[in-house]
Amino acid sequence: MNAAVATPQKNQNRIQAVLKHASGDKRFKILEVHMKKHQFRQDALIEVLHKAQELFGFLEDDLLLFISVKLKLPPSRVYGVATFYHFFQLKPQGEHTCVVCMGTACYVKGADKVIAAVQAHAKIKPGETTPDNKVSLLTARCIGACGIAPAVVYDGTVTPRVTPEAAVEQIKKWM
Ligand code: FES
Repeated sequence: MNAAVATPQKNQNRIQAVLKHASGDKRFKILEVHMKKHQFRQDALIEVLHKAQELFGFLEDDLLLFISVKLKLPPSRVYGVATFYHFFQLKPQGEHTCVVCMGTACYVKGADKVIAAVQAHAKIKPGETTPDNKVSLLTARCIGACGIAPAVVYDGTVTPRVTPEAAVEQIKKWM
């Protein structure tokens, strides 16, 4: 989807879908609290994008649209800024994404071991994609699921209490 060129009606439908999706994902709530801290100021956009990338690992379309709605900015502006700066990652290259939460709660429960196991198996570092473009490995900081640490997000699905073995199993399925 490219929200920047969508028709207004399509955009409205898309926005409704995104807000519905957001209501079931704690990470959007955390991001909204962060925007509130900045009084939903439009000039806090870069700061908000940083926080979003920290939470999600990368800036997917839904996320950019969510930010544009909440900050009352045109989607084209949000896309423009996100694509301008090289430190924002819009899309992992891989067909599948494995985002390992490296926030404190997950870390103390062994997220470092999970990521080490995935790295060793897939032979990629965080931020990289396997040469066959199957799997991208990313990290995030606290995704709001500390109670089920260590948490890993496989293709957008938050998965609780992930062991290194379970993570490797998932990667094997994808590869
Ligand atoms: S530290 Fe991982 S969910 Fe909070």
